[in-house]
Amino acid sequence: MRVWASLAVTFAIVSVVPAGAAEAIDAKIVVHADKLGAKIDRNIYGHFVEHLGRGVYEGIWVGEDSPIPNTRGIRKDVVAALKQLNPPVVRWPGGCFADSYHWRDGVGPRDKRPASINGSWGNVPESNAFGTHEFMDFAEQVGAKPFVSINVGSGTVQEADSWMQYMTAPADSPPGKERAKNGRTEPWNVPYIGVGNETWGCGGNMFADTYADEFRKYAAFVRTWSGPRGQLIAVGADTDEYAWTETMMKRAMLWRPDPSPMAYNVDRPLMPMLSLHFYTFAGTWQKKGASTGFGEDGWKAGLKRAYVMDELIRKHGAIMDKYDPEKKVGLAVDEWGTWWDGTKGASTLYQENTLRDAIIAGMTLNIFHDHADRVRMANIAQTINVLQAMVLTKGEKMIVTPTWHVFEMYKVHQDATRLPVDVTAPAYGDLPSLSVSASRDAAGLVHVSIVNLDPEKAARIDLSGVGKVTDSRMLTADAMDAHPAFDQADPFVPVALKNIKAKGKAVWLEVPSKSVTVLTVQ
Ligand code: AHR
Repeated sequence: MRVWASLAVTFAIVSVVPAGAAEAIDAKIVVHADKLGAKIDRNIYGHFVEHLGRGVYEGIWVGEDSPIPNTRGIRKDVVAALKQLNPPVVRWPGGCFADSYHWRDGVGPRDKRPASINGSWGNVPESNAFGTHEFMDFAEQVGAKPFVSINVGSGTVQEADSWMQYMTAPADSPPGKERAKNGRTEPWNVPYIGVGNETWGCGGNMFADTYADEFRKYAAFVRTWSGPRGQLIAVGADTDEYAWTETMMKRAMLWRPDPSPMAYNVDRPLMPMLSLHFYTFAGTWQKKGASTGFGEDGWKAGLKRAYVMDELIRKHGAIMDKYDPEKKVGLAVDEWGTWWDGTKGASTLYQENTLRDAIIAGMTLNIFHDHADRVRMANIAQTINVLQAMVLTKGEKMIVTPTWHVFEMYKVHQDATRLPVDVTAPAYGDLPSLSVSASRDAAGLVHVSIVNLDPEKAARIDLSGVGKVTDSRMLTADAMDAHPAFDQADPFVPVALKNIKAKGKAVWLEVPSKSVTVLTVQ
């Protein structure tokens, strides 16, 4: 770590750590509050729900006759919890499920909808009770914009086009009249349309060239029929498949092949967004590591893998820059989050959500902020009862997860302007011990989020470049794998930082080991 002599002296005078306290690291954070960076698109705080395990059925949909309090069949407790996060966008119906979903099965009177099989996730029965109308209702109830992923893998352009007509055509058109008969007169606004999902895998086993051409074909027909134009999101790479990004940028970004004079025949690219999928685990895809009961090895390995997100965005971003230096095409990380080995006896991809998940959420959101000039959307997988969920349900009970708390604390960054920060801190293994991000909101307030990755050492921080700390919220727990439980008080409610000292423009504070903190600064 770099040594700054004057600070060492200052600490000797105003140190907030009592002599003999547990080992701590010394760090310095400089916020460049006068250098405004890119806008942090609030869509970076997006969500994803798939017909998988108990994500949709039980997690959202309980039906109108359920004893669980609901609004038109949608759980009230889950809606209330999600609303508190200001969710900007929610992606549906998959995931892998999207490429075997046929939208017609999910509209019309519920008792007449055909049941089918969810071949993507365990061949379980799919009642189709939760279809287009129910999803749109859910999105409206939580206050999020819908992101609909259309079926490319086993569907047709005609099926995709007819779904778009059904959702967005004017009320007096034939598709609009059918929609009205099913309960919705006005067209829905569909601002985001995913053209397939993982078409390199479960969505069709395609090579990049093939999918780029498929995307071009779908882009010719899939559109919104009224209201604002929806943005198409092309399937992007799995993790570090950089060749996929190269091909998509080369073959699918433009309306005409470069250097045709028609290449930029409109002020928008054919492909407004390209996606990226990346999951975090502590081992391998085959043995990902347990969601609880891990030691420092599992902590470190999980954090190390999560940190790869930064490298992925930089490298995919560099390829995108080559073809699109003006950054017209957004990167949508429309699946990310932790994926641990499933809990025995639990529903598909159900996992406990611990302090480690909270740390990974905080770090990853900070990384997205760092690349806000390119990353325009991200959707954590998957909202309820699946993977790195915001909430977990058990019958009529619901709990919020540590990840929910991080999203709640971080919502101050939504649509704020990123401010550059310089961080000087010792390493934690191969990683920086602190992950830091700052932004200025519309009211002029600066928010600084600080994640301390070290599970043992608190961080004594000299914070400069900002004024008085007017608020602080900090989340931690005693154990690395601490997690909430049904029927117990939530152990993760954020608290104010105890150790904040200020003298003139200088601020010193101490954040505990393994913690996530958000400061408000004037
Ligand atoms: O989120 C779980 C699955 O992970 C999704 O269905 C798929 O797109 C990805 O492989």
